[in-house]
Amino acid sequence: MKTQHLTTNQDETRALGETLSRQLQPGDLITLSGPLGAGKTTFVQGVARGLEVATDATSPTFVLIIEHEGRIPLLHLDAYRLENKCFDAIRDAGVTDFLDRTDAVKLIEWPERIADFLPTPRFAIVIDYGDNDNERRIEIIEKEN
Ligand SMILES: Nc1ncnc2c1ncn2[C@@H]1O[C@H](COP(=O)(O)OP(=O)(O)O)[C@@H](O)[C@H]1O
Ligand SMILES: [Mg+2]
Repeated sequence: MKTQHLTTNQDETRALGETLSRQLQPGDLITLSGPLGAGKTTFVQGVARGLEVATDATSPTFVLIIEHEGRIPLLHLDAYRLENKCFDAIRDAGVTDFLDRTDAVKLIEWPERIADFLPTPRFAIVIDYGDNDNERRIEIIEKEN
């Protein structure tokens, strides 16, 4: 199933993430695609709010994976710098352990960079720029199992 949304500010994108969080279960994998500045991390902040995460969900670009405590633990992976890395390097970066976690909600920014190593996510979020500065088109695709 696929739903399409248009947001006109950052708060609306966060609200969309918070709404999605109500459907999430431990072990769920969610991918977030879209160009730099699209709003992937913003969407994650909404999911984090919905999972009652107290810490700030900033982009983990420099530490790759961040874990947050919440109603369900939240794992946030940014795969931006993993492009063209071999399986060993990706595993050593913690991605395999990340994927094995069945107790946490797992969100991945830049999933296409490690596409060969990823199972089908429960939800794929695709964000793109709209016609105006603060507009974003957001698709939420629920994958069949
Ligand atoms: N509708 C919107 N939704 C999300 N972010 C928006 C929106 N309009 C403007 N922005 C801005 O776009 C940027 C999105 O940043 P971020 O979420 O870090 O993107 P990404 O993680 O995709 O690189 C922020 O600076 C935010 O203020
Ligand atoms: Mg980001």
